[in-house]
Amino acid sequence: MFKLYQLHKSLGISVLLLSIIRLLWRFSTKQPVAAPGSKLEQRMAKTAHISLYILAFLTPLLGWALVSASPYNIPTLIFGVVEWPHISFFAALDNKEAAETILSKIHEIAAFTLLFLALLHMGAALRHHFVLKDNIVSRMIPFLNRNNKSDP
Ligand code: HEM
Ligand code: HEM
Repeated sequence: MFKLYQLHKSLGISVLLLSIIRLLWRFSTKQPVAAPGSKLEQRMAKTAHISLYILAFLTPLLGWALVSASPYNIPTLIFGVVEWPHISFFAALDNKEAAETILSKIHEIAAFTLLFLALLHMGAALRHHFVLKDNIVSRMIPFLNRNNKSDP
């Protein structure tokens, strides 16, 4: 169980670091044209994408905060190699037990909301590929490229 939690924390911190790289990449490159669709569909896609970004940051940050607040002070070893520091603000709290309980609950809610949105998002990708038959998914995967009209 201890090893599983260390793996969970290592993968979670990796999500956080990769999300930072992804966001920097996004704002430093030209974005492809949005998928064609009604105003409502465009708005729903935008909301889902922004929420996915927010939760991809928030969920691991809450995990990091909760291990920092833990009264047991268990170290986080990234893939058994690098020791990840605790956030000093949470480590210095007076009532660490209460903080850990609350953060653990919010971490759980964030994680399940992220999972729900990711599944919804994958469903939308499947709809684009198999129902609408456009190139929104295939333009992310070069060997699948359909090269149809909506290609940027
Ligand atoms: C995208 C990243 C992450 C996801 C999706 C995620 C998801 C989850 C889920 C589903 C649980 C079980 C909640 C429950 O039912 O009790 C959990 C628990 C936990 N996570 Fe994460 N997690 C992430 C990142 C992290 C990180 C970065 C850390 C620490 C550095 C962490 C530390 C923990 C700990 C210590 C628990 C046990 C909490 C408790 O119930 O006492 N997680 N996480
Ligand atoms: C099988 C899994 C997945 C597929 C097939 C998929 C597919 C796609 C596609 C086709 C796009 C639109 C790209 C475009 O406009 O050209 C997209 C965007 C996006 N996906 Fe996924 N996705 C998957 C999993 C995920 C997961 C797990 C997350 C988050 C945790 C995620 C987060 C995002 C975000 C945030 C965007 C918006 C990107 C931007 O505009 O900056 N995706 N995805």
